[in-house]
Amino acid sequence: MTGELSPIDKAKFVAAKRAVDYVEDGMRVGLGTGSTAAWMVRCLGELVREDGLKIRGVPTSTRTAQLAREVGIEVISLDEAKWLDLTIDGADEFDGELNLIKGGGGALLQEKIVATASDQMIVIADAAKEVERLGAFPLPVEVIPFGWQTTRALLEEMLISVDVMGRDVTLRMNGDHPYVTDEGNHILDLHLGRIGNARQVAMVLNQIPGVVENGLFVDICDVVVIGYGDGRVEMRDINEGTVEKDRLDFVESENLFTDMMD
Ligand code: A5P
Repeated sequence: MTGELSPIDKAKFVAAKRAVDYVEDGMRVGLGTGSTAAWMVRCLGELVREDGLKIRGVPTSTRTAQLAREVGIEVISLDEAKWLDLTIDGADEFDGELNLIKGGGGALLQEKIVATASDQMIVIADAAKEVERLGAFPLPVEVIPFGWQTTRALLEEMLISVDVMGRDVTLRMNGDHPYVTDEGNHILDLHLGRIGNARQVAMVLNQIPGVVENGLFVDICDVVVIGYGDGRVEMRDINEGTVEKDRLDFVESENLFTDMMD
C-alpha cells in the first residue's frame, strides 16, 4: 500500500507518526491543519482506537475537527481545554531557529492561538520545508473583509520600511471568489522572497488596522520533526539544543494506509 504514496507523502507520514510519540495519556492536544497534520490526526486516531489512548483534541479548523471526529478523537473547544499540553502542526517553512511561516492552508489564526496556548508546539514537516531565511513561501496575512483593499494599501506602504526582497500582495482566491477563512475573513499573501527580520515584520504587520493575524510564528515552535521519504526522521529540540535521529518502518502502518486509500 505504501508503494502508492509519493516520497513526499511518505516523508510527511513518518514525521507525523514519530511526533505522536510525544503524546501521553490524559493530554489536551492541539490538532493542526494541512496535509501533514492530517496524517498526524489519523495516527492519533489509530492510537485512540487500537491502544486506548485517552486524549482530548482541540482542532485548528473545521476540516481538522471533522477528521478528528471521524477517526475517534474526542474533540473539545479551546475554551473548554483552557490550556494545552501539546500542539502538533505542519508548517510551510521553518528556519534554523524554528521560526515558521504558516497559513498556506488558510488556518493560521486558529493555529496561532492554539499553538500559543500550549506548553509545547511540535512542527511536523518534510525536509523541503527547511529554509535558511523565511520568505520564499508567500506570507499569509488574515484580514477582515471590511476595507480589505485599504488594508492591502497600508500593508504595501508598510513593506517599504522593512527588510524584505519582494513587496507584491495578492488576495487569496477560491475560484472566482475571495477565499474565506473559518473566521469569515480574507487572506492576503505577501510575496516577500526573503524576510530579513521575521520578528520585526510579525510585529509591524499586526499593528495595521484590518489585520487580524499574520502567518509568522516567532519563538512559538519548540521541536521540529523532519521526515524523509525513506523513513528517516530527525527531531530538533530548540530548547534542549538536541538533535535525535530515527528511522520508521512503513509496514507496521499498513492499516492506516489502507484506510487512507479507501
Ligand atoms: C494551514 O493553514 C497551514 O499552516 C499548514 O500547517 C501548512 O500550510 C502546512 O501544510 P501541509 O502540511 O499541507 O504542507
